[in-house]
Amino acid sequence: TGVVTYDPGFMNTASVESAITYIDGDEGVLLYRGYPIEELAAHSSFLEVSYLLTHGELPKHGQLEGWVERVERHTHLHDNFKALIGAFPANAHPMAVLSSAVSALPGYYPESVDPFDPQTVELATVLLLAKAPTIAAYAHRRALGQQMIGPHRGIGYVGDFLRMAFQPNGALYEVDPVMVKALDLLLILHADHEQNCSTSTVRIVGSSHANLYASVSAGINALSGPLHGGANEAVLRMLTEIRDSGGDASDFMRRVKDKEAGVRLMGFGHRVYKNYDPRAAIVKKMADEVLSKLGKRDDLLDIAMGLEDIALNDDYFIERKLYPNVDFYTGLLYKAMGFQTRMFTPLFAVGRMPGWIAQWREMMKDPATKIGRPRQVYVGPQRRSYTELEDR
Ligand code: CMC
Repeated sequence: TGVVTYDPGFMNTASVESAITYIDGDEGVLLYRGYPIEELAAHSSFLEVSYLLTHGELPKHGQLEGWVERVERHTHLHDNFKALIGAFPANAHPMAVLSSAVSALPGYYPESVDPFDPQTVELATVLLLAKAPTIAAYAHRRALGQQMIGPHRGIGYVGDFLRMAFQPNGALYEVDPVMVKALDLLLILHADHEQNCSTSTVRIVGSSHANLYASVSAGINALSGPLHGGANEAVLRMLTEIRDSGGDASDFMRRVKDKEAGVRLMGFGHRVYKNYDPRAAIVKKMADEVLSKLGKRDDLLDIAMGLEDIALNDDYFIERKLYPNVDFYTGLLYKAMGFQTRMFTPLFAVGRMPGWIAQWREMMKDPATKIGRPRQVYVGPQRRSYTELEDR
């Protein structure tokens, strides 16, 4: 209680003290536990970064193997999950499938729901990281009307994710190391981003002492919106539309700048970055390289680079400090790997998993945590008396 400040969208309100991720939005800096994203992208792996985020330090010699082994040991899902996912219409959005399946996990692993027992929390951490790619791959195959196939150990977490997604029914599938490297890097870039919409959702749900799965499933739903993780899907639709209407971006840009309802340059702008998003810089560099290596040069990449060029030299974007964000170029890579557009946001969710978990764990251990409960400024009618129906 006391003075209530009005702050729509929490533009200026810090709701936590956190030691996980640091962003300097003016300089375009992103650090996980102090390590620059560029260094992690160049040298680390997604599972190592997951350990770093959830445990606070890089794993030491011996610890990493144990961690990877533990996660990979749990990638399988109960057969009933095939039935659960199979019960969705084939055209169901895979984000709906993913959030539902994550919501269902505590039903299968009730021994992993106590938010205050460290061993249980560690188990839930491992289970979520392990099962997320399997669920996402199931959702992918379901959407394609293909039989769902389970995990197979020995080809690595990311390699097996790709295999589960792409192995043709009844045929062999050779994992392409270029794709593994690219996807591993993309997952690292998405692993955490401090108090964004989905992470704040995870925290606010967890603040009621809801279990990790329930909190993360809410985060997945928050991520699905086009202003957040759904932007990667929206970018690809936007680029395709521009291409299909002749490839001239100027008319589209005019509509953006006229603020035509619902028209934004998707993949541009950020609440915190008022400079180039360091993740977008890495993805852009990689997109060119990986697309060439995979032999999948895409005219959409040229359209994207053209749009960026126009935007970075246009007063509308300069005045508002709007730069490409992480979602601007990622879809082109996912597409080159063979993922359907609707799978882009689930891939973001698999990548964000360690961040959501780390933030939830930090919150649960923080003695300052209180149930999330924003206040409001009431602007409705004053007290008045009920009128009977016939008198209205
Ligand atoms: N295209 C055109 N105009 C924009 C855009 C854009 N993408 N983004 C912001 N603006 C304008 C906005 O209209 C406003 O103009 P004015 O001052 O004249 O009213 C100004 O820039 C400030 O924008 P805002 O909406 O007040 O900023 P915000 O911090 O509330 O929103 C955002 C941030 C990311 C939601 C927004 O930039 C946006 O909608 N971008 C497009 C969607 C997108 O790419 N989202 C992904 C975000 S990054 C990764 C993730 O979270 O998934």
